[in-house]
Amino acid sequence: MTRDAVRRTKARYDRIAPIYDRMEAVVEGLAFRRWRKRLWAHVDGGRVLEVGVGTGKNVPYYPGPARVTAVDISDRMLERARERARTLHSDVGLALMDAERLGFPDGVFDAAVATFVFCSVPDPVQGLKEVDRVVKPGGRVVLLEHVRVNMPIVGRLMDLLDPFVLRLIGPHINRRTAVNVERAGLETERVDELTAGGLVKLIIARPSEKTGG
Ligand SMILES: C[S@@+](CC[C@H](N)C(=O)[O-])C[C@H]1O[C@@H](n2cnc3c(N)ncnc32)[C@H](O)[C@@H]1O
Repeated sequence: MTRDAVRRTKARYDRIAPIYDRMEAVVEGLAFRRWRKRLWAHVDGGRVLEVGVGTGKNVPYYPGPARVTAVDISDRMLERARERARTLHSDVGLALMDAERLGFPDGVFDAAVATFVFCSVPDPVQGLKEVDRVVKPGGRVVLLEHVRVNMPIVGRLMDLLDPFVLRLIGPHINRRTAVNVERAGLETERVDELTAGGLVKLIIARPSEKTGG
């Protein structure tokens, strides 16, 4: 994706960072919190990458034995994640980084996690390819994502509203992330439908089998 698209995404999240947690407080309490716990139950210890950490809402759920590195493209979101990590005495390593160009060597992580991120990454397939690259063979990729629903009228409505939501708050509402996971070469292990209509999915995948070179 063009650097302009990444810059625009960063600017949107920098702008909403001060109100992000308040904006999501109700859904966080009603559903997200429960779904985050469910996601982290699939991650054990080892070296874990969180992509798009945002304001650090997953920090309370990091498994004790895990050594987590968390990245985001928005400095303002990261500032809040840093504050949250300090309050919770978490030793998560936080870094400003573009998911489409991860600055890590191949296969260094045991697992990678992202929650509501690949709706916002400008080129989600490129971001997921990077995740595939940095997770070691036999490792795990766990994603919590809202996607375009598979119902003709509602899906079409999501397509129509997408440009407005994108400009206003940052995410696309019509991404097909389960398909993008496959396009990136990851191997889907399972997809749990968390809501009616397939709106929110927990996607568990394995990195592709890499042939040595
Ligand atoms: C909807 S927020 C989700 C934040 C957090 N994961 C959560 O569950 O609350 C999406 C996050 O992805 C980040 N993001 C978007 N594009 C990115 C990219 N190319 N690289 C890294 N982070 C990105 C945004 O800055 C934002 O913090």
